[in-house]
Amino acid sequence: MKYSIALGVTALSLALATGSVMGAKPKPKAPAKAAAGNVKNGAAVFAKRFPVECKACHKFKNQGSTALGTDLTHAGKKMNAAKLKAVMQNPKKFNPKSIMPPVKWSDKELTDVAAFLATQK
Ligand code: HEC
Repeated sequence: MKYSIALGVTALSLALATGSVMGAKPKPKAPAKAAAGNVKNGAAVFAKRFPVECKACHKFKNQGSTALGTDLTHAGKKMNAAKLKAVMQNPKKFNPKSIMPPVKWSDKELTDVAAFLATQK
């Protein structure tokens, strides 16, 4: 009995500390990792979005073509994650004549996809 009360109190104070009781968004589990990008999530986001939003211009492995854009199969050989993200956010910053529209995903999606593409060497 004593034990379960102690547990309950601990759980409650933990919940208060993390703000979940107040309906706040849960904090990311590993901020350091999130900043560097989650490669696994990036791969999933890319797999879902590439065929819809990017394939008309880009090639990736056996999908799409380079008719209007580039081959992203080995994107990690060309650029690091930070540069890949920067290009996706604002292609015109690097090529004023770029025909690529800025990729309007969440910052996390961009970071994760950039991290994934950076592993594609
Ligand atoms: C209208 C055509 C077009 C679309 C759509 C497009 N891109 Fe691009 N993208 C380009 C072109 C062209 C380049 C080459 C650099 C430049 O001219 O901006 C490029 C460059 C890039 C680069 C930098 C690496 C490289 O090979 O130069 C990345 C990363 C990239 N695109 C990702 C994406 C993603 C992800 C999508 C889909 C959300 C997308 N692009 C949609 C045309 C496009």
